[in-house]
Amino acid sequence: MQSSTSNYLFHLSTKILVGTVWLSATLFGLYILFFYFASLIMEETLRWNTVLPGLYDDRTPAATAGMGLHFAAGGIILVLGCIQLLSSVRERYPAWHRWLGRVYVTAAILTAIGGLVFIFRKGTIGGTVMNVAFAGYGLLMLVAALQTIRYARAEKFTQHRAWAIRLFALAIGSWLYRMDYGFWFLFTDDLGHTGDFRGPFDYFMDFWFYLPNLLVAEIFIARRGALKSPVARGIATLLIVLATLFLLLATYYFTAKLWWPSVADLMTGQPVGG
Ligand code: HEM
Repeated sequence: MQSSTSNYLFHLSTKILVGTVWLSATLFGLYILFFYFASLIMEETLRWNTVLPGLYDDRTPAATAGMGLHFAAGGIILVLGCIQLLSSVRERYPAWHRWLGRVYVTAAILTAIGGLVFIFRKGTIGGTVMNVAFAGYGLLMLVAALQTIRYARAEKFTQHRAWAIRLFALAIGSWLYRMDYGFWFLFTDDLGHTGDFRGPFDYFMDFWFYLPNLLVAEIFIARRGALKSPVARGIATLLIVLATLFLLLATYYFTAKLWWPSVADLMTGQPVGG
C-alpha cells in the first residue's frame, strides 16, 4: 500500500516536472524565435544588444550570421526536444519520431556551428573563460547530435537512446542557464554577476549549466529503474517537487521581466532603449 502510494506520487511528480520543463523550454524557444530571429528578419538586429551588449555588431557580419542561424535552430530544438523523448509518440507514431528526429539533430548541429562561428569570429562577452566553456558546450553538442543519428541509422537503439538523452541534457542546458540566472537574480540581487559576465558567479555558471546535466544523464542511462525502495522514491519525489517549484519561479521571472517585454517592444515598434 505504502509502496503503491510512493510509486503513484513519484510518477505524478515526474509528469508535472516534465510538463513544467516542456512549458518553460517551449516559452524560451518561442521567445528566441519571436524576438531574436524576428528582429533579424525585420532588420531590427540592434535590439539583440538590449539583452546582451555587443551581441550585434555591424563590423562582424559572419558572427551575426552565425548567431542568426543559432537562434533559428536553437528555438526549434527547445520546442521539439520534449516531443522526441515521449515514449507514447515514439511508439504510436514512429514515422513522426524519425522525421522530427532528423529536424532535431540537424537543428542541434546548426545551433552548435552557429555558436562556434560566433565564438571564433567575435568571442563571447565573458572573455576567455566563457569562450572555452561555450566552445566545449558546442563541441559536446556536435558529438552528441552526430552519435544520436549514427546509432539510429545503424539501428543500435540502446546506444541511440543513450546519446539522445545526452543530447537532450545538453540542449536544455541553454535554457537551464537562464533559469539559474533568473533564480539567482531574484534572491541575491545579482551577487557575483557583472555586466560583462566576468564575476565569480558568471564563471561558475559558464560550466555549471551543462556539465552537471551530463552527469545526471549518465546516471539516468546507467541506472534505469533504480528507485526501487519507497524511501528512495520519497526522497526523489521531494527533489522533483523542489525542482518544479524552482523552474516555475524562474520561468515566471524571465517571462515577466525579459521575454514578454522584449517581444512586445519589437511587435509594437517601441524604439530601442525607449
Ligand atoms: C538549444 C540550444 C541553444 C539555445 C536555445 C541557445 C540560445 C541562445 C540565446 C537566446 C542567446 C542570446 C543571449 C541570451 O539571450 O542570453 C545565445 C547566445 C550565445 N550562445 Fe547559445 N543557445 C544554444 C546552444 C548553444 C551552444 C551549443 C553554443 C556553443 C557553441 C552556444 C553559444 C552561444 C554564444 C557564444 C552566445 C553569445 C554569447 C555572447 O554574446 O557573448 N549556444 N544562445
